[in-house]
Amino acid sequence: MDAKVKRARFEPPAPIPRTIPPSRLEIIRTVLRNPLELWGLPSYTWPWIVTRFFGQTTIIANDPGLIRHVLVDNAANYEMSEIRQLVLRPILRDGLLTAEGPIWKRSRKAMAPVFTPRHARSFSRQMREQSELFAIRYVSDDSGVVRDIAVDMTDLTFAILSETLFSGGIVSEQGDFAHDVEDLLHSMGRIDPLDLLRAPKWLPRLTRIRGASVLKKFRAIVRQTMDQRRHVMERDRDSAPDDFLTLMLELERPDGLTATEIEDNILTFIGAGHETTARALAWTLYCVAHSPDVRAAMEEEIDAVLSEGADPVDWLDRMPNVRAAFEEGMRLYPPAPSINRDAVADDRYVAADGTVVEIAKGTTVLVMPWTLHRHELYWESPRVFDPSRFLPENREEIGRFQYLPFGAGPRVCIGATFALQEAVIALAVLMRSYRFDVTPDTNPWPVQKLTTQPAGGLPMRVTARRL
Ligand code: HEM
Repeated sequence: MDAKVKRARFEPPAPIPRTIPPSRLEIIRTVLRNPLELWGLPSYTWPWIVTRFFGQTTIIANDPGLIRHVLVDNAANYEMSEIRQLVLRPILRDGLLTAEGPIWKRSRKAMAPVFTPRHARSFSRQMREQSELFAIRYVSDDSGVVRDIAVDMTDLTFAILSETLFSGGIVSEQGDFAHDVEDLLHSMGRIDPLDLLRAPKWLPRLTRIRGASVLKKFRAIVRQTMDQRRHVMERDRDSAPDDFLTLMLELERPDGLTATEIEDNILTFIGAGHETTARALAWTLYCVAHSPDVRAAMEEEIDAVLSEGADPVDWLDRMPNVRAAFEEGMRLYPPAPSINRDAVADDRYVAADGTVVEIAKGTTVLVMPWTLHRHELYWESPRVFDPSRFLPENREEIGRFQYLPFGAGPRVCIGATFALQEAVIALAVLMRSYRFDVTPDTNPWPVQKLTTQPAGGLPMRVTARRL
């Protein structure tokens, strides 16, 4: 078959843009239930919108120039939005995602080497191994078992993350670490109504009381695991595995990270680094199941590369159709649907046509991959799943600031390459042996929690491929 995927026409589910603005009460209800249902037609058709939201001037920025201005050119004038800090900072503290100012700068610089291609080879082996171990669960039934793919992909990416983080060396005396993580993520990323109303910080957020004890237990486990590894490294550095934990502990020095910062960052990797990839994998498998041409091109490519015995570190480059399907999955269902900033001082942006956007100190700027990736001004047939947009021959048409699954600028996702590599390896291992098909019960609805999730799960039929 021709390497170019034929144009697919599947339009996966998404809220219809509102044509009538919601009332204040409806805004609160929708923000708490599913912010993706809030946005009106202008959010998908105008370059920017200046509005007031809970007494706060807010700019919805879709214009690529304006986004570049906020995230890159004048990034120093913008800090993480207050609402996100209220939700995440008590948990992740000075981890990279929530740190600001000099601590962020020093930590980002110190951690950059951990994410360089030098370590990609050993990570890619662990990704392949964990994907193969995971796929064993499907083997017992080749007649088409129905599984919740949303749950399965979270299990898979968690297995990959815990292996690449700790090489299986987590010190968890009682019970199940995966379950603790689930509990932690559940309490994380919850917007409390008091946060929305910007109530004083000392007022307890009822939605998070349970989270506090989970967090305490969780941090204790991470600390013990760090201590144990430190001992191994002190005895004989070469006997310690080359995973994130060893690489991070090597940064424990005055110009690197403190022990507490290492702990915060390990929590941050757990929080930021597996549910995101899991969601995108599940949505991709769902869209691919509706697009037979796309699936055929992916299978052909996977079969060819795997039968050659290629090293998994090269799969990302060798499988453009698999990568394109995943990137298109993240366009339609960006795991991080909004990247928000607050202006520290007055600022202004002058658009290419001379229009001026005044951005007063304290203004919140919403950069939303959700609306940007479905925007009528920047995409042809924006609601259609069409991975051919991301094939190498078409990729150049996509502007840097119109596709932002990993953000942009100094705070761009540090794990972006890791995530892409992981996704391609996981899809290749799974699709080499199995077909994932929709059933009459597969009716996912996108909901924005910490990530873009399919409400009610994603049941799909898994059948062994006859190779
Ligand atoms: C498909 C998977 C992923 C998506 C869509 C994603 C998305 C993002 C986005 C949009 C940001 C920028 C947030 C902002 O500017 O406000 C970000 C930051 C970050 N991500 Fe990811 N991420 C993914 C996977 C990962 C992985 C695998 C890791 C770690 C192992 C990770 C760790 C981080 C960290 C530490 C930051 C904060 C960077 C900083 O502020 O300097 N992410 N991610």
